[in-house]
Amino acid sequence: MILAENVVKNFGKTVALRSFDLSVPAGSVAAVLGPNGAGKTTAVRILATLLRPDGGCAVVGGHDVVRDPAAVRRVIGLTGQYASVDADLSGVENLVLVGRLLGLSRAAAKARAVELLKRFGLTDSANRPSTTYSGGMRRRLDLAASLVGRPRVLYLDEPTTGLDPHARRELWAEVRHLVADGVTVLLTTQYLEEADQLADRITVLDGGSVVAEGTADELKRRTGGHTLQVRTTSLADTDTAAQIVRRITRSTPLQDSDTGLLTAPVSDPAVLTAVIRELDRAGVTAAEVALRLPSLDEVFLTLTGTSV
Ligand SMILES: Nc1ncnc2c1ncn2[C@@H]1O[C@H](COP(=O)(O)OP(=O)(O)OP(=O)(O)O)[C@@H](O)[C@H]1O
Ligand SMILES: [Mg+2]
Repeated sequence: MILAENVVKNFGKTVALRSFDLSVPAGSVAAVLGPNGAGKTTAVRILATLLRPDGGCAVVGGHDVVRDPAAVRRVIGLTGQYASVDADLSGVENLVLVGRLLGLSRAAAKARAVELLKRFGLTDSANRPSTTYSGGMRRRLDLAASLVGRPRVLYLDEPTTGLDPHARRELWAEVRHLVADGVTVLLTTQYLEEADQLADRITVLDGGSVVAEGTADELKRRTGGHTLQVRTTSLADTDTAAQIVRRITRSTPLQDSDTGLLTAPVSDPAVLTAVIRELDRAGVTAAEVALRLPSLDEVFLTLTGTSV
């Protein structure tokens, strides 16, 4: 549904996108993850026909963004990084305005506005000027505005930046609903957890270049395999357990002296059963034996040298 190949964009001497590639199948969610200035908004603006690329090619819903921007616009909806609703208009007026601009009749625009306000929990505030809305409410109104035209492709540029955890979860739920309805979603984010939660595939962007691409699990696996965690029921058994972990993983585990938690990097998940067997043979009861993937934070640090 979205395809970008080797897209380049310069602003004077600033290289905003050096080489951007993306391929998003219909009905899936793609996340572009990157720190400030990585080129996320630039990529979205090009795919939304708001900016012309200097090189490369981008096709959305089968339409080339440079050759046929009008056709692309008929397919897409965009919630930009900064709220674009008119602060002096009420919620319902904002949505009716968008509907009328999209060519709906007065009645159809009103009906669509009422429907969307209900869906986003804004019915009670529908007639207040949107200046009086909280940040989270304005964000929801913004998202509602981008849905008036029933887009098949939706771009969300940092949809939850500045939202509290509750509002963030609500927005995630709404994105999942849209995907269940068959909408293809491209979102940008600085939150690793958000990409992990929502996206089928993640593109990691840094300094205008794609530095990694894959599912959350693939990205986690690429950097450092798994981490083994072992904790014994009795602190007195920690040393015995540490010896077993060292023998099996061939690396000295880190030992937390307070909790007795042992952690060691492993490349082969099969060590888990070996560790359990050896602990059992030594008569050591484990309170916790687990393998975990590195967090996306750890992955990002490894891939880009920058923490988010
Ligand atoms: N209109 C513009 N004129 C000049 N430089 C620009 C313009 N838009 C973006 N840039 C530059 O291009 C680079 C990428 O910017 P972009 O806004 O795409 O980053 P971003 O990943 O969206 O960052 P953020 O997380 O802060 O929103 C930055 O160095 C930025 O300063
Ligand atoms: Mg941005």
